[in-house]
Amino acid sequence: MLLTCAIFFALSFVACNHQELIPPKPFDQMQFSEGNEPNDLRIKLGRMLFYDPILSRDSTVSCASCHIQSMAFTDGKKVGEGIEGRKVLRNSPTLGNVSYHSRIMRDGGVPTLEMQVLVPVQEHSEFDFNMVLLAERLANHKVYSKMALKAYNRAMDPYVITRAIAVFERTMVSNQSPFDEYFYQNITTALSDEQLEGYALFKKLGCENCHSGPDFTNYNYYNIGLYEYYPDSGRTRITNDTNDRGKIKTPTLRNVALTAPYMHDGSIQTVEEVISHFASGGKSHSQKSDLIVDFEISEKEKAEILSFLSSLTDKTFISDTTLSNPF
Ligand code: HEC
Ligand code: HEC
Repeated sequence: MLLTCAIFFALSFVACNHQELIPPKPFDQMQFSEGNEPNDLRIKLGRMLFYDPILSRDSTVSCASCHIQSMAFTDGKKVGEGIEGRKVLRNSPTLGNVSYHSRIMRDGGVPTLEMQVLVPVQEHSEFDFNMVLLAERLANHKVYSKMALKAYNRAMDPYVITRAIAVFERTMVSNQSPFDEYFYQNITTALSDEQLEGYALFKKLGCENCHSGPDFTNYNYYNIGLYEYYPDSGRTRITNDTNDRGKIKTPTLRNVALTAPYMHDGSIQTVEEVISHFASGGKSHSQKSDLIVDFEISEKEKAEILSFLSSLTDKTFISDTTLSNPF
């Protein structure tokens, strides 16, 4: 790599700058948790459960009601809506590459994907059901009871439900965007000059301090000065530490053009307005990150960043038939 850069450098400065743009290679290793190794049957069972409203108390809402594939598994709403139209506290996040998160949920309150399944099942504003009752319901189901035995060699129970759904979620990998084509498949036409300019600017403005690595997040929690007073205390809900007030896990920017509205509470409608927020330096808050500093940005530069971010849209991911509704 160094040698290539040196040779390019001798030929042209632009080529070498281009080398410096190269991001880390995305997702070399498939993730799985111990004892829950993926196989076709487990993935199939998890996929069916993910799309089946049978998981909610009144059988009206499924995971896919709030995590819709065409929107990179978000729902286009300000906040998620469960049974009887009940509103969840937060905006539904994308599930793309979620298996690479060090901790789950916007406040990092849940350690694993397996454990996360309990939340929507039990939550009043989501399925308003009960894991034990759900397991009974599914154990009495002809198809699911057989599949549990085949996939996990045990009767349908909470163990099977949580593990199968988590296995399916781990197959939700998004790494086929034009950005990936350009950098990893050497398709030099995949990105426009405007997009490359936008990527350079993204780095220059320090976005990469937090939106770094293959998934454009370092998975850390920050208060970005969205509010002077945060109605949702963010990470403080988990740690009870007031220093964590308003801190939210840095979201991935992959497929961000498909995942409006933005922020943990869906309070910002467009990516352009998000950029304006960062340019303003945010509201004053004692916990606001030092990395949030106001900057000047022209309309042209804004358009370049927007254009770069749209290169993270992965059409293969949102049309992948192995991730779609199996019913
Ligand atoms: C009523 C809408 C709704 C339903 C139904 C729902 N979710 Fe979610 N989901 C959300 C919201 C809102 C969040 C963000 C919650 C938070 O961070 O506190 C979320 C967060 C998640 C996360 C964490 C993502 C991250 O970035 O850490 C996963 C994984 C997830 N949901 C999977 C599921 C699964 C699996 C189901 C079905 C068993 C499900 N969801 C059902 C709305 C929903
Ligand atoms: C200090 C860390 C940090 C820096 C620097 C930063 N971000 Fe963020 N960004 C975050 C966090 C944390 C959130 C989520 C905040 C929330 O939900 O309340 C976020 C949210 C976003 C969102 C909305 C994504 C979504 O799904 O809701 C976009 C787009 C975004 N940032 C782009 C940028 C750009 C462009 C820059 C550079 C100008 C930047 N960020 C700089 C941490 C950062």
